[in-house]
Amino acid sequence: MCGIVGYVGNKICQEIILGSLERLEYRGYDSSGIATIYNDQIQLRRTVGKLSELKAKIIKEPVSGTIGIGHIRWATHGGVTEQNAHPHLVNSEVAIVHNGIIENYVELKKELTDKGFLFSSDTDSEVLAHLFAYVIEQGLRPVEALKAVLSKIEGAYSFAVLSKSYPGTLMVARNASPLAIGISDDMAIVASDATAMAHLTRQVTYLKDNDYAVITSKRLDIYNGKNEPANREVVKVNVSPVLLDKAGFKHYMEKEIHEQPDAISHTISAMTDVNGGLSAGLDLQSLAKMKGIVLLAAGTSFYAAQIGRYWIERLAGVPVVCEIASEYHYRNPVASHQTTAIVISQSGESIDSLMAIRHAKNLGLETFGIVNVLDSTISREVDKILPTRAGPEIGVASTKAFTAQLVVLICLAISLGRQNGSLDVDKAVDIHQGLLKIPGAIGKSMTLFDSILPIANQLKNSHSCLFLGRDILFPLACEGALKLKELSYIHAEGFASGEMKHGPIALLEKGLPVVSFVSEDESARKSISNLKEAEARGGFIIVIGTQTAVNLIDFATEKIIIPDCDPLLTPILGAVPAQILAYLTAYEKGTDIDQPRNLAKSVTVE
Ligand code: M6R
Repeated sequence: MCGIVGYVGNKICQEIILGSLERLEYRGYDSSGIATIYNDQIQLRRTVGKLSELKAKIIKEPVSGTIGIGHIRWATHGGVTEQNAHPHLVNSEVAIVHNGIIENYVELKKELTDKGFLFSSDTDSEVLAHLFAYVIEQGLRPVEALKAVLSKIEGAYSFAVLSKSYPGTLMVARNASPLAIGISDDMAIVASDATAMAHLTRQVTYLKDNDYAVITSKRLDIYNGKNEPANREVVKVNVSPVLLDKAGFKHYMEKEIHEQPDAISHTISAMTDVNGGLSAGLDLQSLAKMKGIVLLAAGTSFYAAQIGRYWIERLAGVPVVCEIASEYHYRNPVASHQTTAIVISQSGESIDSLMAIRHAKNLGLETFGIVNVLDSTISREVDKILPTRAGPEIGVASTKAFTAQLVVLICLAISLGRQNGSLDVDKAVDIHQGLLKIPGAIGKSMTLFDSILPIANQLKNSHSCLFLGRDILFPLACEGALKLKELSYIHAEGFASGEMKHGPIALLEKGLPVVSFVSEDESARKSISNLKEAEARGGFIIVIGTQTAVNLIDFATEKIIIPDCDPLLTPILGAVPAQILAYLTAYEKGTDIDQPRNLAKSVTVE
C-alpha cells in the first residue's frame, strides 16, 4: 500500500505535498514524511503516526523549496519507526518515496552492503535510494539512472526520486502499483492516484507498467519498458477536487452508512434503461455472450460476489464461480466453460483483484468490472465497467460500496434472466419494484442506531463472536463478521448455519454471542433448528431479520428488525444493521473507526 506524492513547479511545495498526502491517507497511516530541495540541500522531515503528527512537526520545523516528494506509509517490510518511514535519504544526495515491494531486495541489499553502503532502515525501499545514489555518483544523468536502477529491481513499485545533483527534476517509475502524473503550465505533480491532485489539475497521464519518466516543471519525458520514448494519453479526470468532510457525523463510516439511500438510488438509476427497465447497462449481445461467469474480488467485495452468485444462478440459470482474487491468479483455473470474468472492487486498485482480472483476460475471457472509483486502474483495464454510484468511500470499512455492489449484481442477474428467458417478466417487475423501495427502507433503518446501541455495549466485552446465515444470507454472515473484526478487533467468524454442527459448534460456550441473519423463506425452519442448537449450549442469540422472520425465533435474546422486503433482497437490507452493530461496538470500545489498526482502504501490495 502506501501513497506517494511528488511536485515540481514554481510554488513552495510543503503545503501542496501535505494537501495531496491528506487525500491519500486512505492508503496507509502508520507514518509519513516529506523531502524537498532548497538551497542545493535536501530537507527531510519524517514522523511515526498519522499525518497530523507530520503536520505538527512541520509547523515547528518547516521545509522550503519548489520541488519535493512525500509519503504516507502502511508498513510492509520493517516495523513502524521513523527510520523505516519514507522518504529514504542516502548520502544527503538522493531521497526516494516508494509504494510496493522490491522482491529481490535481499540480494540487492547484500550486493550494496558488500560495496560498503550502510543501511539505516529495515525496509526493502531503501535499496532504491542506495541504487540511485550509486548510479548518480557514477555520473549517470536522470534517464540513464532510471534505466540502470530499473534493470536491477524486481517486484511491484511506483516511486519518485529527488537528487541534489538535478535539483529541478523528478524521476519516477511504475510497475503494478499505480502512478498518475498531473500537469499544468507551470508545474507537474505525481501521486498514487488522481484524487490527490484533482484540486490542482484535471489533466492527468497514467504511466503504464514498466514506464518511467523524467519530469521538470516544463517537460515530461516518458519511456516504456523497452527504453523507447512513449506517448501516454492525457485524460481529464472527473474526481471531486474537494477534500471530503464528515458533514457533521462523528466518522466517515457513520456518514457513509447514512449515505446508502442515495448510493443505492444513484446505482439503480445507472442500471435503468430508457424504458425504465433494469438493464445493468449492457446491451443484449453482451448479455447473450455470458454463458459462464467467474466473479473475482477480495474482502467485502468478495462477499458481494458470493451473494451475486446466488442471484445469478437463481434468476438467470447461468453458472457462476466466485474466486478470491489473491488465490485465482496463482492457480491454473480451468476456464473452458466460462465466457466472462467480472471483477468487483470499490477502489479499482486492489492489486490482487487487478492481477486476477489480468489473469482472466490472458485466459481469453471477456472482462467486466463492478467498480466504484472510475478513474482507477481496474476501470481502465476491463473491457466494460458496470459502475457503482456510491460516491467516494473514505472509511476503511466498506459500507455503501458493498450495498451498491449488491444492487449492480441483482440488476445483472435480472437482466441476464430476462435475456435468456429464465426469469419471467412478472417476477422481474416484482424484484424491480422491491429494489426501488430499498433506499426508503434503508432510510428507516437509521433508527437502528438507537436500538442496537445496548447490544453493542454488551458485545464490546466479548472476545469472540459467531455470525450465521443460510443460503443467500451465508455470505452476509461472513461480511457481518468481517465488519466486526476489522473495526472492533473482536474475533468474529461467519458460518453457514447448517455447517455449525460439522465442527464450529465446538466453539459454543455460555454467553458466546451468535448473530444470525434469518429469513422468511423456505430456509427459515432449518435456520431455527440450527439456532436452537446454539441456544441449548448457552449462546447469546442475536437475530437480524424482518418482523415476521424474527417472530419465528422466540428464544432469541436480542432481535434486530429490518423493514419488510422480498427475501431475495434481504442481503441488502440486512447489511445495514450488521454495519451499525460493528460501528457501535467499535465506538463503545473506543477503537479508531475510520482508520482501524493495520488496515488500509486500498490494498495495493500482494
Ligand atoms: O477496493 P476493493 O473493493 O477491491 O477492496 C477489497 C477489500 O480490501 C475491502 O473490501 C476490505 O475487505 C474492506 N476493508 C472491508 O471493509
